[in-house]
Amino acid sequence: MIRLECIVCGETYGVEEIVYTCAKCGNLLDVKYDYDYVGERLREAEYWRRPLNVWRYRELLPILDESKIVSLSEGGTKLHHCRRLGERLGLRNLYVKTEGDNPTGSFKDRGMTVGVTKALEYGSRAVICASTGNTSASLAAYAAKSGIPCFVIIPAGKIAFGKLAQAVAYGAKIIQIRGNFDDALRIVMDISVKHRIYLLNSVNPYRVEGQKTLAYEVLDQLKPVQPDTVIVPVGNAGNISAIWKGFKEFKLLGFSDKLPRMLGIQAEGAAPIVQAYNRGVEELSPVEKPETVATAIRIGSPVNWRKALRAIRESGGLAEKVSDREIVEAQKLLARTEGLFVEPASAASIAGLKKLLEQGEISRDEVVVCVATGHGLKDPDTPVRFGEPPVEVESTVEEVEKALGVSKP
Ligand code: F0G
Repeated sequence: MIRLECIVCGETYGVEEIVYTCAKCGNLLDVKYDYDYVGERLREAEYWRRPLNVWRYRELLPILDESKIVSLSEGGTKLHHCRRLGERLGLRNLYVKTEGDNPTGSFKDRGMTVGVTKALEYGSRAVICASTGNTSASLAAYAAKSGIPCFVIIPAGKIAFGKLAQAVAYGAKIIQIRGNFDDALRIVMDISVKHRIYLLNSVNPYRVEGQKTLAYEVLDQLKPVQPDTVIVPVGNAGNISAIWKGFKEFKLLGFSDKLPRMLGIQAEGAAPIVQAYNRGVEELSPVEKPETVATAIRIGSPVNWRKALRAIRESGGLAEKVSDREIVEAQKLLARTEGLFVEPASAASIAGLKKLLEQGEISRDEVVVCVATGHGLKDPDTPVRFGEPPVEVESTVEEVEKALGVSKP
């Protein structure tokens, strides 16, 4: 019923053994299902009566043994109709999906509930990942819940404080390397194969299956409306690829009849996919020294680049980059118009929306969904660093009145 298929040469693999990439050509793998069977089972089960979360769609997830599911109640995140921000930007139908509502505060939990369940199915002795912060926080939590050791490799000094605190609290073994995320990923790919430790980066085709449920949720939440455009911040490029797969599957199964455009947004200092998209090529020139305030997407050599470029092109979408200043401004704008505090990488989707509206790439009557990938509290330093510092005064009513500008009644 379930098999893995190479995205380039089409070689297929069974689910019995652990395999991350194609043994023949080295490219990434996709999970394939018998969609007639899956569709029938979803309808029979009347899946729409189940609570909105990742496991509502369990027939579309690559799990063989449901008794092994490790869940912290992930998914079912809010889809906010952002009227005030929409008005500001001149857009009537703007929605923001706040993935910060997830148990560890980011979309990674959708992937980890599936990925760590697979680790248990395979009887793995430990799990490992490289991370810019959120993957490590999420994996550490799900490993703790399932009682298996967790190793995380992170770039020293480049992880937002809240994310580091999470990985420490959940008890992961944390190694900081004097290198960047791309170096860390190379290292964990090597170690995972050599020591048979289950790898949970987005090269793992099962993990990203969990992430595609975001698309199903958006369709179920917006019903009968369907989005025209979905905007996703892009780092290692697994999420945009997964979400696109989700939209395609729901259409294939007859649960929707339209596909949205996928717009991928990268930070200016870490935008190899935007570069490849603009050049119209199917190859990636890695950015040697990626840099951005949005540390979550500070990635120069995204492993899912081929999947992401295909998602963008197939959907008739595009890739665009935004500056750090635009990211910080967008974070502020979303927080101040909608009361939604998201981390800088997530604000990249709002910054991208603003830029693309100005460029006329998005029209004002479209139904747009921005994916806000992680919670603002993950990275408390950034808004404080770029915002106005609080005023300090003596502790008297008069002084406080003066500072507030309300001294004359
Ligand atoms: N937004 C946030 C908040 C992220 O943490 C990430 C990736 C992305 C967007 C980009 O998603 O990599 O699938 O394109 N964070 C990874 C990590 C790399 O290690 O936490 P992507």
